[in-house]
Amino acid sequence: MSEALAVAHPNVALSKYWGKRPGDGRFPAVPSLSVTLAGLATHTRVRFDRGLADDRVVLDGLAGDVRTHSRVVELLDRVRAAAGEGRRAEVVSRNDFPTASGLASSASGFAALALAATCAAGLDWGPHRVSDLARRSSVSAARSIYGGFVELGVGPPAALERDVLAAQPLAAADHLPLAVLVCVTTEGSKAIGSSEGMRMTIERSPYSRAWLDEAPRLHQSLRAAVLANDFQRVGELAEASALAMHASAIAAGVIYWTGATLQALSTVRALRQEGTPAFATIDAGPHVKVLSRPADAGRVRDAMQATPGVERVIDARPGEGATLASDARETL
Ligand code: DP6
Repeated sequence: MSEALAVAHPNVALSKYWGKRPGDGRFPAVPSLSVTLAGLATHTRVRFDRGLADDRVVLDGLAGDVRTHSRVVELLDRVRAAAGEGRRAEVVSRNDFPTASGLASSASGFAALALAATCAAGLDWGPHRVSDLARRSSVSAARSIYGGFVELGVGPPAALERDVLAAQPLAAADHLPLAVLVCVTTEGSKAIGSSEGMRMTIERSPYSRAWLDEAPRLHQSLRAAVLANDFQRVGELAEASALAMHASAIAAGVIYWTGATLQALSTVRALRQEGTPAFATIDAGPHVKVLSRPADAGRVRDAMQATPGVERVIDARPGEGATLASDARETL
């Protein structure tokens, strides 16, 4: 087969990855734990074609920018090398959520691309190898290969580029009843990309050492809280991880928050004071993702929607990992 279509979903990290290990390869400096989200999806088709002189990349109907194009070609080159494939490929990808609003798409994008490209090249790789391939393009993408609650370690000591590091499933999507309300805020100034933001944080922040020491501890506690099915503790630790990551980034001048981000954080605090457990997490952008119990999701959604600067709220739940579509020719 030289054509395949894959579907993958974004994930939100409860304990955050922020910072890479020094040296070659894309190895995270800290472990992370995420939940894969149903309700948002990326569809990606890869077709190897003898007739193509160059790789072609179309994202949401437009040619990929230079940087995205070269990241996609890099992944395709790894697949071609592993499969002995000489043909160039056409990659067509579509997100059903607004990437222009700055919502992370690299996790679902590279997870779908890794799965579609390996399958189209005839490689019969299991999820472990596909997750490692996705990580080489974007660390968080390794986690979107799996559904539910997913963990990613840091790799072997003194990791070399050829070493394998894949995510691992920790618990199924229905293990911990959870609602994730994605609050899309008004855009601020152009955000710094996550690779650049974490590089600046590690190099310049006076608190980068504190973050690198604290993140693994938070991760271990969060892992235990997920396994113990303790929603309250999961929420508290997830918010603590996001705040520690951003505190360290802010001290390096890497500021993703806008006024709307702070307004949303303040609504989450007010909900808690009124007795509704709700917790915030924030990635490399101004948007806020609120964790709540499914039974409280309606009330939390209304409060978030009424917050100045919150444009809309997307309702997401824990969902499944990346899958192949049965019909690769489905219209994208
Ligand atoms: C804040 O995985 O996008 O979302 O590996 O450089 O592509 P690269 O970074 P990326 O960073 C994600 C950062 C985060 C936290 C997380 O998802 O763990």
